[in-house]
Amino acid sequence: MKFIAFIFLIKITVSQSLTCNNILELPAETKLTIRELQTIQPKDMVQCLAYLGKEQLPKSEAEFIWQSIVAFYSGIANVPDNVLILLHWVTTALTPEDYANITFSNIDVIQNFGLNYNLDMQQLMAIADRVREDFAGKEPEDYTYYDLTALRQILCAYNRSEIERIHPSAFREAALILGKLENCSAEVMTGFASLAIQKSAFGPPSTWSDSTKKALGKIIEFLPPEIIEKYKL
Ligand SMILES: *[C@@H]1O[C@H](CO)[C@@H](O)[C@H](O)[C@H]1NC(C)=O
Ligand SMILES: *[C@@H]1O[C@H](CO)[C@@H](O)[C@H](O)[C@H]1NC(C)=O
Ligand SMILES: *[C@@H]1O[C@H](CO)[C@@H](O)[C@H](O)[C@H]1NC(C)=O
Repeated sequence: MKFIAFIFLIKITVSQSLTCNNILELPAETKLTIRELQTIQPKDMVQCLAYLGKEQLPKSEAEFIWQSIVAFYSGIANVPDNVLILLHWVTTALTPEDYANITFSNIDVIQNFGLNYNLDMQQLMAIADRVREDFAGKEPEDYTYYDLTALRQILCAYNRSEIERIHPSAFREAALILGKLENCSAEVMTGFASLAIQKSAFGPPSTWSDSTKKALGKIIEFLPPEIIEKYKL
């Protein structure tokens, strides 16, 4: 199988340009090198984006794909939402400055950027700023369960006072997902913990069942120490 894939790659390297159809025919585990990526026409790059972005990419490759997309649409502002929602691991190539030219009004676009790609805080803060500005005029108190499950990691770039404005019942519905966020700041996690104990969320920790504790996950560690101690959380 490996040998056949190898022959196949030689063939397409010789025939210069890798089309989207060629890419989709590659064995599932094939990782394209930067040199192979460079043979893909921007049109094919866009057409095959769902495939190209589905797994973690080296920085240079993510950057190459993103630059090809931007060139294809003649500018970041013209990249359509149906392409932005498929970026997945290509998202790591976007700089904080790039976000100035992207509009975040579509929940499906927001959902792409809320997944965990180990973005750095500067990238997440740039995304959060766009969401604050663009997202249908929504304030944290307006966020629904669906909004929260799309925002995910983006919430990690909010501050505690914004987090505490989220409606406790929306928090409750989304707790299973929010309790699993990776690398969120202590400030944000503390905000979630103070939502968790509200009446319309989970109420006093003395009443929490094992499944509540499980849903809240890491958020529990950010309750006041005396509460953790008292209820053996
Ligand atoms: C971003 O938008 C600005 C202002 O509209 C424009 O001058 C610039 O070329 C855009 N950058 C990209 C990379 O699209
Ligand atoms: C939290 O962030 C919002 C949006 O950037 C800002 O308006 C607000 O002043 C911040 N609050 C605190 C307490 O830092
Ligand atoms: C958390 O952040 C650290 C350092 O920034 C990084 O090395 C690690 O991969 C991240 N972990 C997850 C699960 O995102």
